[in-house]
Amino acid sequence: ITACAAPAENDVLDTLVDGLRNLEYRGYDSSGVAVRNGEHVTVVKREGEIDALADALQGVRPSGAVGIGHTRWSTHGAPTDANAHPHTDCSGEVSVVHNGIVENYTALRGELIERGHTFTSETDTEVVPHLVEMYREQGLSTEDAFRRAIGRLDGRFAVAMVVEGEDDVFAARDGSPLVVGVGEDRRFLASDVPSFLEHTDRVAFLEDGDVVRLAADHHEVTDLDGNPVDRPVQTVDWQPEDAQRGGFDHYMLKEINEQPAALDRAIKGRITDDKDVHLEEFPPGTFEDVGVVHLLACGTSYHAALYAQQILADRGIPAQVFSAGEYTTTPAPVTDDTLVVAVTQSGETADTLSSIRIAADRGARTLAVTNVIGSTAARVCDDALFIRAGPEIGVAATKTFSSQVAVLALLAERIAEDVTGAVDPDREALLAALTELPGHVEQTLNQSSAEALATQFINRDEQFFIGRGVGYPVALESALKFKEITYEHAEGFAAGELKHGPLALVTSDTTVFAVFTGRHDEKTLKNVEEVRSRGAPVVAIAAGTDHEIAEAADEFLSIPETHPVAAGLLANVQLQLVSYRVADLLGRSIDKPRNLAKSVTVE
Ligand code: G6P
Repeated sequence: ITACAAPAENDVLDTLVDGLRNLEYRGYDSSGVAVRNGEHVTVVKREGEIDALADALQGVRPSGAVGIGHTRWSTHGAPTDANAHPHTDCSGEVSVVHNGIVENYTALRGELIERGHTFTSETDTEVVPHLVEMYREQGLSTEDAFRRAIGRLDGRFAVAMVVEGEDDVFAARDGSPLVVGVGEDRRFLASDVPSFLEHTDRVAFLEDGDVVRLAADHHEVTDLDGNPVDRPVQTVDWQPEDAQRGGFDHYMLKEINEQPAALDRAIKGRITDDKDVHLEEFPPGTFEDVGVVHLLACGTSYHAALYAQQILADRGIPAQVFSAGEYTTTPAPVTDDTLVVAVTQSGETADTLSSIRIAADRGARTLAVTNVIGSTAARVCDDALFIRAGPEIGVAATKTFSSQVAVLALLAERIAEDVTGAVDPDREALLAALTELPGHVEQTLNQSSAEALATQFINRDEQFFIGRGVGYPVALESALKFKEITYEHAEGFAAGELKHGPLALVTSDTTVFAVFTGRHDEKTLKNVEEVRSRGAPVVAIAAGTDHEIAEAADEFLSIPETHPVAAGLLANVQLQLVSYRVADLLGRSIDKPRNLAKSVTVE
């Protein structure tokens, strides 16, 4: 969702289309705009990426000072022109864009059809303009009709609306993100800050249950009953260029290369000169009552959570990781001493948010590790720890993964010290390695031979990624990255598990990437022998100083010698580059892989 209300005589069409382009990572099946010019609202929408909409707008250029826009990741109905947003009522006066799912749309649609409304799409969204139309026909003002319509919706949603004859944009949120941007002479509204970051960094984060009226020079937030609520305007510390491609071919490559700076920010001020952990939000003793840590996450964040579990286990702290989607149906029992950590880059993933709410209802103490200040996860959890990676636009997460792991490592150290009352002898080495990590990532990026090797990795039957210890989540993450952006078959395995089944698939057409972190490498070397003796070529990722590993493999990607926890992240950087280069050679849509979205705000 994007929206803008500018002073009369302005034309917001380009702002809306740019705002959509900046949000394309959230969905790119179809897109559309509704622009109000004088009394009249014009809707243009198209199947496909924003370029298709931009082409259509060359023919009909609706200009006006107020408008809404949408880029879609389909949930109900195929990505066709008809199913694209905005959706309108019978009269064509009310135009609505919507994220989320209206769970009771079948019942509402039935009721509206009975009252004579006709529908033109298969979407759940279309009930919203028709409800507004119905209540307006019953004599309610547009604002009251909007409130009444919103009150009828079950599910999670963010909605924005423009209406012929009305100056303002009307919007509401319940479960899906929505942010107001306060510009110099105009107001913006979007599902995410990067949409309007080039215009303003002053934002007000809306909360569930909020209704907002947006005009060029003011906005008004109320609850569903119309009582005013205060959502303070804050300044976000993201720069417009953070959300731009800046000379790189893809956001993903830019974000891979931003990792030294992102990691630097992630740890800045959080490791003292005498190698102590300093988390401003969590002074020593904060976690002394914690007995067990549960980590909830999805996708790449799930792999960061697995990484953290290994670090915690290493320090003697019982930790379990749950796929948030599973947790919502099979929640784990929690006790008074359970700390539930939600790991979520966006802070808006619906599965993760639902699982946090379940854990909180069961009495757990909750903490969000997230990239987005003001995100729902940050607000819903008792506490939040920010990873400070800056905006990530590429759908495939890269810099946020390494920043999550670095911050989770610091959190793990704080928890371990508080719980055990002691400092682990390994801590100094780990913190030293984290301090050196930005430089080591830089070195890895500068010296990587991934590009030169990439041609060997295309058109193979499949690619396996193996590792042990923290090398295991790295194997899973690297396989996810590979399949997300190359569309080729890739799987990650715990190195020791390979012989218990997956080995049956290994042939000379399987490339095996083996991650070595410096811990139990001798065991992983045995697994390398197992696959090589079946003819599979092996690419080893290990410290450049390890000649034994280099000799045992067919190809070698070198990383600086460091602590195993940092080594895993460096190996991951090499494998990010491998996936990127292979996807590029195959001509894939790297920043917007088919069927995926950056932030999945539906369960
Ligand atoms: C989507 C994205 C993944 C991401 C996952 C979790 O599926 O495509 O890249 O890892 O959501 O996102 P979160 O914002 O919760 O970390």
